[in-house]
Amino acid sequence: MSKPARAACVIGWPAKQSRSPKLHGYWIRKYGIDGDYRIEERRPEEFAAFVTNLAGHGYVGANVTMPHKDAAYALSEPDERARAVGAANTLWLAGGRLKSTNTDVEGFIAALDERAPGWDKETDSAVVLGAGGAGRAIVYGFLTRGIKIIHVVNRTLAKAEEMRQRFGPAVRPATWEELPRLLAATRLLSNATSLGMAGKDAMTVDLAPMPAGGIVGDAVNVPLVTPLLEAARHRGFRTTNGLDMLLHQAVRGFELWFGVRPEVTEELRAQLAADIAKG
Ligand code: ATR
Repeated sequence: MSKPARAACVIGWPAKQSRSPKLHGYWIRKYGIDGDYRIEERRPEEFAAFVTNLAGHGYVGANVTMPHKDAAYALSEPDERARAVGAANTLWLAGGRLKSTNTDVEGFIAALDERAPGWDKETDSAVVLGAGGAGRAIVYGFLTRGIKIIHVVNRTLAKAEEMRQRFGPAVRPATWEELPRLLAATRLLSNATSLGMAGKDAMTVDLAPMPAGGIVGDAVNVPLVTPLLEAARHRGFRTTNGLDMLLHQAVRGFELWFGVRPEVTEELRAQLAADIAKG
């Protein structure tokens, strides 16, 4: 078999659990592209040498996952989104230069647009749980869509305060004790902590204070329906899950590497959902 014309990869440590090869592989076949998408497990100490010689390893670009998103940002030329978030998850070569962006921003926002169209017209405040990289991407996405007040609830309050320094006074740092009061005054809630993820601490948020017509997003994708999303559905709220976000964040990378803007289809979603359900 001849070598594919273009290849991309996901770089992480560990990375074996990544569902990105399934996702991009589906699009490569669907669009008849002479391409490949592989997993590259690289330790933190190996990352810089690998990523600064992507072409030498046969790649036109890459996704970057834990724990390399900060290093990817530092070693590349970030676009406005990556700069805003301070982390990169997508890399590509342009004229021999290593460029980066952060597609978690549009992944989360596109998932909301799909599952709760008009969400940004229904509210001008939101609550975000978590102040790590995922939290920063979501807060930035909300700001770009005109959300005016974003309460960032985090166990380590200093990290929520850093978010306010980064994004300005629209960000309101808050503690978990304040959450019931904050929920009573918002219809948009997003989880960007690892709470509720398989193998991590349980999520114990009570959605009872939230008004009717709520919208709840969860960045966690294993399990597909987290206890938070189950509670939200039970209340008749619209929801987006971590798989919605994963699918939509992948679109731009594929377009940059292979030159086709791919579609998020129900068939693709079902294939990945089945894969996640297998564990
Ligand atoms: P990511 O880059 O994916 O956002 P992260 O930077 O490790 O990952 O952030 C994980 C988030 O989950 C943080 O907001 C973290 O809170 P702290 O900043 O206080 O660590 C939150 N988190 C993880 N475990 C938690 C727990 N048991 N209780 C409350 N928050 C938790």
